Amino acid sequence: RKRFEVDRQRTFAMIKPDAYRNIGKIIDAIYANGFRISKLKMSKFNADSSNDFYGEHKGKPFFPTLQSFITSDVVVGMELVADNAIDKWRQFIGPTNTQKAKQDAPGSIRALFGTDGTQNAVHGSDSCISMKRETGYWFGGDAKARAMKTTAQLNN
Ligand code: TYD
Ligand code: MG
Repeated sequence: RKRFEVDRQRTFAMIKPDAYRNIGKIIDAIYANGFRISKLKMSKFNADSSNDFYGEHKGKPFFPTLQSFITSDVVVGMELVADNAIDKWRQFIGPTNTQKAKQDAPGSIRALFGTDGTQNAVHGSDSCISMKRETGYWFGGDAKARAMKTTAQLNN
């Protein structure tokens, strides 16, 4: 078995409205840290699409803040490829809250380009199931993934 066949994995990453002006630096950091970009698409969320994409958070106290931020300007969705890409990207972006990221992971993408607990520069899939749903949602091509709702929505 060749090494590149062992753990090669995809993840869904997204540059959020507060950070897309830093797309050049973020893409440099992505390549410098062993990821490759296999797909990339800029778009803009509206109320409906943000309800779908962040469906697992609907009803939580921070949802209105998250929704107003994520619909405020354009975002850039990417499919990244690397060994162990899902965990590797989550590790690389740092903790959800940028203030915590600055304390605990000063070199992380969120520490470098984010602001606070909502404006945190980037998204990363948290599991294989999320990766399939989010990649399908953003890039299409997989009707099953596109149609798939989050667990939270299925339970509603
Ligand atoms: P979450 O999935 O918990 O974090 P992550 O992006 O690290 O997977 O939350 C989704 C987004 O919601 C998060 O990136 C920023 C926003 N958010 C808030 O605005 N306030 C909060 O208290 C939390 C937990 C998240
Ligand atoms: Mg999450």
